[in-house]
Order: sequence, then structure tokens, then C-alpha cells
Amino acid sequence: MSNKKKFETEAIRTQSETTQFSEHSVPLYLTSGFVFDDAEEMRASFAEEKQRDLYSRYSNPNVSEFVDKVCLMEGAETGFAFATGMAAVFSTFATLLNAGDHVVSCSSVFGATHGLFTKYFPKWNIESSYFNINEVESVESLIQPNTKFIYAETPTNPGVDVLDLEYLSVICKKHNLLLVVDNCFATPYLQTPIKHGADLVIHSATKLMDGQGRILGGITVGKKELIREIYLFSRLTGPAMSPFNAWVLSKSLETLAVRVEKHCVNALELATYLEAHPKIKWVKYPFLKSHPKYNIAKKQMRLGGNIVAFEVEGGIEGGRAFFDAIKMCSLSANLGDTRTIVTHPASTTHAKVEAEVKAAVGITDGMVRCSVGLEHIDDIIDDLEQALNQLY
Ligand SMILES: Cc1ncc(COP(=O)(O)O)c(C=O)c1O
Repeated sequence: MSNKKKFETEAIRTQSETTQFSEHSVPLYLTSGFVFDDAEEMRASFAEEKQRDLYSRYSNPNVSEFVDKVCLMEGAETGFAFATGMAAVFSTFATLLNAGDHVVSCSSVFGATHGLFTKYFPKWNIESSYFNINEVESVESLIQPNTKFIYAETPTNPGVDVLDLEYLSVICKKHNLLLVVDNCFATPYLQTPIKHGADLVIHSATKLMDGQGRILGGITVGKKELIREIYLFSRLTGPAMSPFNAWVLSKSLETLAVRVEKHCVNALELATYLEAHPKIKWVKYPFLKSHPKYNIAKKQMRLGGNIVAFEVEGGIEGGRAFFDAIKMCSLSANLGDTRTIVTHPASTTHAKVEAEVKAAVGITDGMVRCSVGLEHIDDIIDDLEQALNQLY
């Protein structure tokens, strides 16, 4: 019989060691440092001859529990947890890349990641090229002798496009490149990129992992030798996750499967409703048959996720009017919360982005990104419907 338990069981039963108090729920280890019995123990611990916690910038029992859970969920060898998703993205890049290197990335990446590629990489003499999310076959033509890795997000933010992970992994192996995947929108419950050939997987734990819009967090998991380098970089530079956030997140992961399952049921129902609505120009959701990459989504995802993108009539003004008419759902920049959140990228996060760039990442003027929450689906639909009714 295999020792590996099912996803839900690992999420609940993976816990740090019980203390002398025999507590059932893991306590919060809110401590910056740890003490040693004598000089020899301290020496051996710093020399890594002895495995134990030294200082919470390096490791902490709550953080280790969170990392262990995510590794089990992702099928990863090991990992390191960060204060935010962007700290995970940046520390991973900074560890892997040297001046003179090159990265090939999907064109639709999270805005702050795009900012790293365009604003900071050139300053450090690191090049990057984007492949069109709708023409993944073009990726090979962008590879250069100095390319280090291919970077992909799937489903993408905010366009909900889907990339074929197995295809990207074949290309990476052929050219001896690493495949690094931001798996934030899917969570390991819906998609495990390592199974499809990824070397490293990154998450913003701020989203569905916490799932209740309370805290920030990030994590990178994957191959032992790569994580070791990321750990050494982070040990020096200090982007570590706080024990409190790790404690909250580890508890949140216990319910990840049931929460994400329900998010996806609600999202598919909303997407199906919107697709039939006369005031909606188009709807994109990975598990709708009309999604251009429906077959790939079905192949690599358990369910379609909680993000639905759709376009209301009337361009920018239509999008703004729709927003003003919303009563229950939240107008907020976050996603992956119990509360349904709508955003209008064209007038907010992407207001200053050039038209061609917006088009390349699937953002149109009247596009709305909806992070479908866990309220009753009838109430979510009622709110969007009353807002749509006010449009004309
Ligand atoms: C796909 C993706 N990656 C990374 C991040 C960054 O995460 P954080 O806000 O936790 O730094 C986000 C945040 O929205 C995201 O959507």
C-alpha cells in the first residue's frame, strides 16, 4: 500500500510535530530566532551538519509546514515560501539569471512580472522575448543561445488564456531549458505543472490558497538543486514568509479542495449564464466549449478555475457603467476570495498600456474580469444581471 494519501488528506494531515502540550491544531511559532544547547550545536547547525531551525529568515516550523503541504500537492521535491507572490517571482528570477541571459515568456503575464521584464531586466543586461499566447508554436523561434528558461502562466491573468504545458516542456527539453510556471490561477488542486514537465512552480498564495482575502504570501517549489539556490539567495536577501501568514495559509490549505471545487462550479454556472446573455459580446472560461483552448484545459486541468472574463457592450464607457451598477460584488484588484470580485482592466490596471499590448494579452475595452466567489450562485447572477439591465 502506498504511503501517499489523497490530496484532501495530505492537506489536512500534514502537520508539524506536536509539542509537549499535545495540541490538536498546530500552534503559531511567532519567534524570530531559535536557541542552542551549546557552542557545538550552534556550530553544527550553521554548518548544516544538523537539520534544525536557526532563524526565521531561513526557516520556521509554520513556514515549513506550509511548504511541505504545497510540495505534496504539487508533487515537488522541495520549496521555499515568500512574503508575497512577487517576492517568489523575483527571487526565482534573480537566482536563475545572470547578466547576459535571456528569458522567453508568454505575452500575457501578471502586470508586475511584466514590469520586471521591461523595467528592471534591461538595467541588469537580461533580455526577454514574449511569445503570443495564441501562437504557442512560435516559442521555438524565440529561443537564443543565451536563453535560460521559458516562463508561462496558465490560465493567464486577466485574459484566461490557456497554454499547453506538455508542449512547452517538450520544447524546453529539446533546447535544454528550464520550464518555470506561475500556477496561481489554477492552484495545485486543479493543475500540477511538474507532472507535465515543469522544473519550478510559483504561486501567489495571496489568491485561492488563502482564499479569504486576508494575507499576502508566495511560494516556489520544484527540483531540489534549484530550490537550494533559491534558498541561499533568499537567506541572504530576506524575502521570507512570516510565521503568522504561514500558519493562516497552512490552515487555509486544509479546505483548498472543497473551496476550489465550489468556486469552479459557481464559475462555470456564471460563464454559461453570461454566454447566453444578449448584452454580452463574448465570454472566456477554460471549461466552456467555446474557449479556444478547451481541449488543452480539459487535458491539464481538473476543473476550469474561478476566473471568468467577458465583454460588455459599449467599450470603456460600457465597462465603467457596468461597474457603477454593481451592488453586491466587490470592485477590487484582488482575486480568489470568498467574495465575488469584478475588475475592469481597460480603465484601471491596464489604463496606461498601449493598445497593441492590450490586444496581445486579450484585454478589450469592455472586458470585465470576474473572480467568482462562494456566495450562492443565484445571488451572484442576480447582481450581474441587474447591472447588465441598467446598461442601456
Ligand atoms: C498570476 C499572478 N502571479 C503573481 C502575482 C503576485 O502576487 P502577490 O500579489 O501575492 O505579490 C499575482 C497577483 O495578482 C498574480 O495574479
